[in-house]
Amino acid sequence: MVGTNALCSIRDCASAVVDVIERNADDDAGLRAGLLEATQPFLGRPDLFSLGVKRPGNHIDNSKYIYYDGELSMTLDQLPHGMVVPPHDHGIWEALVILKGRLRHVVYDRIDDGTVAGHADLETIEDRVYVPGEMAMVIPPAEIHSFTALEEETFIFTIVGGNYSPTRHYYNVDKKTYVVAQAGKQPKTSEAA
Ligand SMILES: [Fe+2]
Repeated sequence: MVGTNALCSIRDCASAVVDVIERNADDDAGLRAGLLEATQPFLGRPDLFSLGVKRPGNHIDNSKYIYYDGELSMTLDQLPHGMVVPPHDHGIWEALVILKGRLRHVVYDRIDDGTVAGHADLETIEDRVYVPGEMAMVIPPAEIHSFTALEEETFIFTIVGGNYSPTRHYYNVDKKTYVVAQAGKQPKTSEAA
């Protein structure tokens, strides 16, 4: 247990998150609420931004692993101001807790039947701005999202409940197309956006 004056350790945080995941296997609303609540003691640490080890991000340069156990991963990520992470999927849920700045987060539903290679019709089901203390999330089957940092110093704490799919789709909403990319290799902006 964490005392009132003790810092919440990375292990305590991971343990609380695993507990939330296991208790909410069939409850998306419970998972959302539980993840945010479980991470609050850790995210309140005054030394939060000094923790972690550098990792190669999918879209960004400043990303650090806080925790990884082969399934659950928790990272601390800085999103460059104005950079649009284009609509993509990953075959797994992803939660973004806003630490600093503001984040525009858009979630899409795919409404075509998936039978035409390279074609995808997306419908926006969420388009809102998140601020510190709030958490954006995607959960399959509605797990396509894009996001943009709206301030210079925008940091997020990203929680992923399992391994990313080895391939991901990057969508062009206006052209109703997609390209397939290996995880970790985002297609050039001209291909995806
Ligand atoms: Fe994502």
